[in-house]
Amino acid sequence: MHRIKSLSDYFKKYEQSKKDPDKFWSEIANNFIWKEKWDKVLDWDFESADTKWFKNAKLNITENIFERNLKDRGDKTAIIWEPNDPAQSPIYITYRQLYEETCKFSNALKEKGINKGDRVIIYMPMVPEAAIAMLACARVGAVHSVVFAGFSSTSLADRINDCQAKIVLTSDGNFRGNKIIPVKPVVDEALEKCSTIESVIVLERTKQNINMIEGRDYWWHDCVNDISSQCDSEILDAEDMLFILYTSGSTGKPKGVVHSSAGYMVYSSYSFLNVFQYDEGDIYWCTADVGWITGHSYIVYGPLLCGATSIMFEGVPTFPNVSRFWDIVDKYKVNQFYTAPTAIRALQAHGLEPLKDNSLESLKVIGSVGEPINEEAWHWYHDNIGKGNCPLVDTWWQTETGGIMISALAGITPNKPAHASLPLPGIQPVIVDSAGKELTGNNVQGNLCIKFPWPSILRTTYGDHKRCINTYFSNFKGMYFTGDGVKRDHDGYLRILGRVDDVINVSGHRMGTAEVENAINEHEEVIESAVVGYPHDIKGEGIYAYVIVNSKTSDDKIKIEITNVVRRVIGPIAKPDKIQIVSGLPKTRSGKIMRRILRKVASNDFDNLGDTSTLLNPEIVNEIIKGSSN
Ligand code: WT7
Repeated sequence: MHRIKSLSDYFKKYEQSKKDPDKFWSEIANNFIWKEKWDKVLDWDFESADTKWFKNAKLNITENIFERNLKDRGDKTAIIWEPNDPAQSPIYITYRQLYEETCKFSNALKEKGINKGDRVIIYMPMVPEAAIAMLACARVGAVHSVVFAGFSSTSLADRINDCQAKIVLTSDGNFRGNKIIPVKPVVDEALEKCSTIESVIVLERTKQNINMIEGRDYWWHDCVNDISSQCDSEILDAEDMLFILYTSGSTGKPKGVVHSSAGYMVYSSYSFLNVFQYDEGDIYWCTADVGWITGHSYIVYGPLLCGATSIMFEGVPTFPNVSRFWDIVDKYKVNQFYTAPTAIRALQAHGLEPLKDNSLESLKVIGSVGEPINEEAWHWYHDNIGKGNCPLVDTWWQTETGGIMISALAGITPNKPAHASLPLPGIQPVIVDSAGKELTGNNVQGNLCIKFPWPSILRTTYGDHKRCINTYFSNFKGMYFTGDGVKRDHDGYLRILGRVDDVINVSGHRMGTAEVENAINEHEEVIESAVVGYPHDIKGEGIYAYVIVNSKTSDDKIKIEITNVVRRVIGPIAKPDKIQIVSGLPKTRSGKIMRRILRKVASNDFDNLGDTSTLLNPEIVNEIIKGSSN
């Protein structure tokens, strides 16, 4: 299906996609099963944030994973599941088995009263049932919203309430390295704050003692016991919602990014095939969690639409030891390996010793996603994991873009360290200055915008379309604004510079500083706080919190308490790395916090604070520098 074969082919396709996008995308879309074809390929208006692809077409994405693949690939492995504990047996699931399990669970959802359009929360570990749950939702036309199982009960409740979900799918507990994480109690606590949930389906995984509420909670195995393994798919409109995925922005409240059926199907599979240059028979492994967009597009939908074999890993890179990733690569002879720079840097810190018993010779392509990859990590990854002969694809994209937007195509685009490189066909990135003027030519840097729609662009933010318009389509007229800075180098290759808004990227996890501040402010002795990112060797960015407290409690004690509040309100991933108790925050005369100064102090860059004389309280700067916890 439309695989690009050479650099000249790429340039040709790119030009075609620009010249005649309708023709370009309809040819690709013709490879899928449609119940009814579209009567118009694209309708769009960025001012009202209104994009429709494959207008009035009818389909079900799971028919394109199953019915379309079963004839030739029924016995082919769709998912290889590697459990947390390597001593436990892996599970190989063929396309036919996955189809049957999906149908069974689809019927179970229907029995629980789930219909087309209903929202379903998936709060589960990395087990095949998580993928089955997503696919079953898609099969019955329900809208899944996967919530990363490391999020707190408050975060979970907020998401349930925002999308008014009807059911939660979860587990009794999760294995994570040598820990067992309680999950069901978190759900129980969340549900005290939710009124829309009618039932909870619980997968038995850790066999911990949990509380099951009669009439609300059901065991997964009971729900699929004695149930038909046939389930006709619900016919959806191209623009019907496929899923909602919550992500952080620069304001406090996570946004429910909405993706629709047809465009997402076409783009997730097209980008998967081309970026990774997947060949029939390859074993592909993406280490992400299904709680993030990477897991949606490049563990589940993209690979399965292409009939690929996708590995799903339950555990962590450090258990039982730091060779785990490389052991898995050798165990399954992985051909394409896709991970985050954070993981690379963390493993790099252990040196080459953990690699000494691994051959890694099956690898053909290695990939990076989630944050800028620094040159040192790029070379370490390229030389020691890719053994110098695997193309490294640095893939830039976002929850909102649904699929990879800017990336080398493996083995086709020349590799350039730390550069995401070139846009995929159909993607029209532009660099604009702060006044909104497009900067053409090479050797320019500015804000990264996209000026033409692609099939998997977000459709709205759930329940609040205005917010979608304001966040993405208002900063620069007529364009989608990514929130990232970018540079086009002398060869025309793109290098992502990181966020230009108040969003930080911690270990590849996106975090709004306002969200962390809101959590900190929940501590009753906190008066005000300001959170910024600072360079962190492993995490990319660390979280630095400046906090004003009204308290007689010792600083050390209150710092621990603040950390615990953040853990409770958001989850462990948002815990500040450094907390500094201050008596004031640098403010402009209009009362705005001068984050620029806080960022400089947090990064130990005291000599470049810029002009502080216009501050309302310039004296505070010295105090902050003296007390900085570097
Ligand atoms: C933000 C999106 C896309 C899946 C995982 C993250 C940053 C992502 C790269 C990259 C530099 C990157 C951007 C982007 N980002 N990939 N290859 N190089 N930065 O999805 O949570 O929606 O975060 O991650 O800042 O805006 P997300």
